[in-house]
Amino acid sequence: MLSTINPTQTAAWQALTAHYDDAQDLTLTSLFESDANRFNTFSAHFGEEILLDYSKNLITEQTLDKLFALADETELKAAIAAMFNGDKINQTEDRAVLHVALRNRSNSPVMVDGEDVMPKVNAVLEKMKGFSERVIGGEWKGYTGKEITDVVNIGIGGSDLGPYMVSEALAAYKTQLNLHFVSNVDGTHIAETLKGLNPETTLFLVASKTFTTQETMTNAHSARDWFLASAVEPQHVAKHFAALSTNSGAVAEFGIDTANMFEFWDWVGGRYSLWSAIGLSICLSVGYDNFVELLAGAHDMDNHFKQAPLTENLPVILALIGIWYNNFHGAESEAILPYDQYMHRFAAYFQQGNMESNGKYVDRSGNPVDYQTGPIIWGEPGTNGQHAFYQLIHQGTKLIPCDFIAPAISHNALSDHHPKLMANFFAQTEALAFGKTREQVVAEFAAVGKTESDVEALVPFKVFEGNRPTNSILVKQITPRSLGALIAMYEHKIFAQGVIWNIFSFDQWGVELGKQLASQILPELQDGKNVESHDSSTNGLINAFKAWRA
Ligand code: F6P
Repeated sequence: MLSTINPTQTAAWQALTAHYDDAQDLTLTSLFESDANRFNTFSAHFGEEILLDYSKNLITEQTLDKLFALADETELKAAIAAMFNGDKINQTEDRAVLHVALRNRSNSPVMVDGEDVMPKVNAVLEKMKGFSERVIGGEWKGYTGKEITDVVNIGIGGSDLGPYMVSEALAAYKTQLNLHFVSNVDGTHIAETLKGLNPETTLFLVASKTFTTQETMTNAHSARDWFLASAVEPQHVAKHFAALSTNSGAVAEFGIDTANMFEFWDWVGGRYSLWSAIGLSICLSVGYDNFVELLAGAHDMDNHFKQAPLTENLPVILALIGIWYNNFHGAESEAILPYDQYMHRFAAYFQQGNMESNGKYVDRSGNPVDYQTGPIIWGEPGTNGQHAFYQLIHQGTKLIPCDFIAPAISHNALSDHHPKLMANFFAQTEALAFGKTREQVVAEFAAVGKTESDVEALVPFKVFEGNRPTNSILVKQITPRSLGALIAMYEHKIFAQGVIWNIFSFDQWGVELGKQLASQILPELQDGKNVESHDSSTNGLINAFKAWRA
């Protein structure tokens, strides 16, 4: 059981509130001017591959001391131990939270209800290895004896975002297979994906923890119809459909041979499932050995999270800095900005990871909280974002803490693209932190021969206040191993924050109501009657929709 400590009732929270009031005048400029060693104090390496620089944050050593005290008082260490121990910390679903077991490369026993889950984990990994190697190697043949060329993963949420994000992030390691990801119930998604695919050489992975999700099952049925329109005989489905699920009954009912089912378990949360059988598309996309490297990188981070003192623990440091902005500075959102085109889905992935986990207003005792919980997560790859929304980050009225992520070594060392990309990466955090003063603006005008009075009206618009906080996460290169560590770092950050906010991070009841109402509305859309069962807005919209289609 996790503790039920209200963080705002701790001594550390009171101290942080007072500290926030005292530290209002701190600027990043003054913090750096007064401490030549600031980068060394507020940065840390993770192995040989990741450097986290958190020096460009509005913090001092006193701030961090108080934040670490908050982690102590809210019993974060005990919560970390409880997760790794297989305790049922997902209390509202009465489940353990053990995505860490899926990547437990040390193979030490992990007990759930008195059973070591590692033999099951390893057996599924072996099955994924065999299957992916046969498909990649061309031994697995379609119903007309041809090799598989295209793989379509059908899933949504955690059964889509993770494998899609990783397959894209590791595209430099791609096998010859073409991967496609279909998630939206909008028929356009599957229709456009299937255009140009050959049923004889296409393999479908139906990825769904529950195997009941409306979007996924609808797309899976359409995929099977498309396939059988050519293959005709239902027995051919076995060569072209595999299931990644916890629900063997529903898989069999759909008509997928359970020999082609890759199992996982209820102690794997959907948004933490890329490490499970849900990662089969990753194995096919980049090869099984690279998938294992991804697991190994995550396992390295798991060991760090479990063992490192809180004061040196990267996920904990990131979590606490996030809390500092979210709960004391009043920041509403956080941007994740990867300077790596391959990582273009990274922010979208952690939008679910973070917002579905920590978007909660009820605490672990069942009472509404009276403080802020999870932030809004958003972001796009740099430098595209620079030419779109960075204006607001630099000169808007909102505080938006940003994580800048970039590899030192590109997989595509094309002329001077990478130095240019990285020059922007370094320039942005510098500009956000230190801005440009009135004096600097005037001096720039003077240098091109204009006087202050010539340009008086323009000066205010050209001043940058600075003081916009950032983390820089410099990765040696985006490899399966470093990506695994990076993902796990963010996962544990989210968990640590949820613990401190006294909320449950591993359920997602908030997505249920919309699903329930949609299933009530669906039959109403399919009859010819005027709808009157809802509020006037919903009735009006449904009836207008029906009138247009009549
Ligand atoms: O919509 C919520 C959710 O349950 C997510 O948590 C999950 O990742 C997604 O739906 C898909 O669920 P499933 O894998 O069971 O199809």
